Amino acid sequence: MSAIPTEELNEIRRNVDIVDVISSYIPLTPKGKNYFGKCPFHDDHSPSMSVSKERQIYTCFSCGATGNVFKFVMDYEHISFRESVNLVAAKAGLNYRVDVRNNAPKVNKELYEIYDLSAKIYQNNINTAVGKEAKQYLKSRDISDEAIKEFGIGLALKNKDVVTNLLRKKNYSDNDLIKSGIVIRNDNGMHDIYYNRIMFPIWNVSGQVVGFSGRVFHGETNYKYINTKETEIFKKGELLYNYHRAKEYARNTDTVIIMEGQLDVIRAFSVGIKNVIGTMGTAITKNHALLIKRLAKNVILCFDGDNAGAKATMSCIKELEKVEITPKVVRLKDNLDPDEYIKKYGKDSFVSLLKHPLTTMDFKLQYLKKGKDFSDAVDVSSYVKDVILELSQIDDEVLREVTLKKISADSNLDIDFLRKILDNNTAKKEKEISKIPIKRQVKKRETKYEKAEKALVYYMLKSTEVIRIYDKKMTYMPTERYRLLAREISYFYMKYGTINEADFMNFIASNESLLAALSEILVLPLKENYTVLEIEDYIQTILDYNMKMEIERLKKVMKEEIDPLKKAEYATQIMTLKMRGVNNND
Ligand code: CTP
Ligand code: MN
Repeated sequence: MSAIPTEELNEIRRNVDIVDVISSYIPLTPKGKNYFGKCPFHDDHSPSMSVSKERQIYTCFSCGATGNVFKFVMDYEHISFRESVNLVAAKAGLNYRVDVRNNAPKVNKELYEIYDLSAKIYQNNINTAVGKEAKQYLKSRDISDEAIKEFGIGLALKNKDVVTNLLRKKNYSDNDLIKSGIVIRNDNGMHDIYYNRIMFPIWNVSGQVVGFSGRVFHGETNYKYINTKETEIFKKGELLYNYHRAKEYARNTDTVIIMEGQLDVIRAFSVGIKNVIGTMGTAITKNHALLIKRLAKNVILCFDGDNAGAKATMSCIKELEKVEITPKVVRLKDNLDPDEYIKKYGKDSFVSLLKHPLTTMDFKLQYLKKGKDFSDAVDVSSYVKDVILELSQIDDEVLREVTLKKISADSNLDIDFLRKILDNNTAKKEKEISKIPIKRQVKKRETKYEKAEKALVYYMLKSTEVIRIYDKKMTYMPTERYRLLAREISYFYMKYGTINEADFMNFIASNESLLAALSEILVLPLKENYTVLEIEDYIQTILDYNMKMEIERLKKVMKEEIDPLKKAEYATQIMTLKMRGVNNND
């Protein structure tokens, strides 16, 4: 991947105002020279993000998030740096595009190619004469030609060596073919894993085909779907069906709908509900939950209407709650799945269900109530215990009270009695929590020279005068990350004859550790202006420290030295250093 030249980045950046861009995402209010808003990168309650028109950067004084316009767009949209460059350029009205696919990892190149080619082979098959029967099947299921095209649906032929032979002709090694999970080797040699199935490509979050789900479409078999085995590029726990396509729709509406099957997703998408992704029947993992969190604040679970779907909903809620998402739930009647429901009752009916989803708590109550007989004390007891357990995990007092009322009505038990059980339960939980030893983060006290290093870098970013002083007087900064940062600033100045934070960020954009060091510096609560005297004082502090370290080093080698002449030499050196007036620093 070739890096985007800093000059180009700076050119784009100069064509937009960071204040305009950020205020298109979050409300900003002017205050003094800066603009303030609630930081979108942590759970902010008061506006702690400041955006500087002058410096063209943002900084959050609470969580330390900082950067220029590209960084903001990248983190807010959860997109790659390259994608954010394109987006910002578009906002600036510039006709500029970098190839985002350049980002594609070069590792596993063959596997990606094999999947890309296979998807094309399958798609081609379905459009030929031999694909007639498969097309007929899809038609019988109301899958339109547009949907077939959009979702790249294809066909694996009856013959078991079509794909194997074509890929071999393209010179892929047998090893890669087997590794891909599309070809298998057995006693009869190498042949296709998929034959006589309708093929649904599965994409990773960036939209590359990395697997298939193959469905039978006539005859009987135990395996309705065969999915690609886990490979280097296909990890079921890390991808969700249709994620890359749903991304923009979910972000635009700040809502994402999650379904189980790919046919559910295809149906919803085809009728115009496009912010929808699929779990493909697997249990949601923490990774999935994090991917979902990137898409939207509002999450609606719309799994199959049967018991299995309710159970899957319950465990999906648990996983989402771990990453602080409280989803809403839609349950479908008569055990229907979304595909069947939309076909039977139409899009409008489905949309109105989406408009009135159950809260998580109401779904849990409904789920826990299922099959319980409230005239049976044992059932009442287990229901109450289950719900109280759920309630003890939430902090929302109003929700707790409202729910207590509901279970009181369901169970015929006095609300005060229920409240007492809940309080006991909560107290127990808190006690357990307090038993966990809390690892206190010991914050290292910052030394005088560290403060000086940081302040120096801080003002170097603001003024070329300070850079010149640094270039002239500073030889070595003891802390590596500030040293490297100062060096880059100095280099930037040498190259461009100027300095500004926003452009400098582009310059070091690919260096994570430098960016982290820069973030530390940018949030320093230092005053805007400096005096040359102050700068020289910072430098002196650092030089003094270096001297002190050098003396200590010399003392150590002197102690280990046996030759008396050399020992004396070291002593003189130490004396000379001390004479320079640093001894009063000890
Ligand atoms: N699934 C699977 N293997 C199976 C059954 C299901 O991998 N043997 C996955 C598929 O991704 C499927 C999802 O789980 O889309 C949901 O399963 P199901 O509801 O049975 O399938 P549908 O999507 O409803 O497909 P169809 O309407 O064709 O039956
Ligand atoms: Mn289904």
